[in-house]
Amino acid sequence: MAMTLESLAEQIKMCQLCPLARERTHAVPGEGNPRAEVLFVGEGPGRKEDESGRPFVGAAGKFLDEMLASVGWKRQDVFIANVVKCRPPGNRDPEESEIHTCVTNYLVHQVNLIEPKLIVTLGRHSMKWFLKNPEPISRMHGKLKLITDKKTGKTQFILPLYHPAAALYNGGQRQTHLADFKKIPAIVEKIKTGTIGA
Ligand code: URA
Repeated sequence: MAMTLESLAEQIKMCQLCPLARERTHAVPGEGNPRAEVLFVGEGPGRKEDESGRPFVGAAGKFLDEMLASVGWKRQDVFIANVVKCRPPGNRDPEESEIHTCVTNYLVHQVNLIEPKLIVTLGRHSMKWFLKNPEPISRMHGKLKLITDKKTGKTQFILPLYHPAAALYNGGQRQTHLADFKKIPAIVEKIKTGTIGA
């Protein structure tokens, strides 16, 4: 049977491939428009997401909704996922092996099915997966990158942004987040018209 976003989500909900499965309440496959031009990739579910099975529904999610609204978008216009689909206990950072297992089994397929024009990484874990050896996020945020898959030769635009939760701890960062976010629609248009390089 052909893989679909729905069949992947069913697999994710039953996944036992890494230790995070043991302590989760719900896995969080991600949600949104299956034909989204923009795929947002966060780090992993927090407590609220673990309880509900939905991505970015806590305080960081409220700020993400606000940033989406600032460019005239709703959640249904984009797709929102995470590098790891299960909550790391106590909100610890996900281990590299957990990220590797989860991304290669799930996120990679989600990207191939959605075929977004642009992947927006939220926070350093997501940025590190896509850009491998990036400079610190303080230098990378808001800078568009073009990556090439060595195996397939496929290219993909990546825009690293700070994680929205960072603005909750440092209110002064809100304007930086909003300014970075405002760049997204114009970047997508330029990608679509082939008038951008990175
Ligand atoms: N933080 C994330 O990185 N992802 C979520 O889904 C929620 C909070």
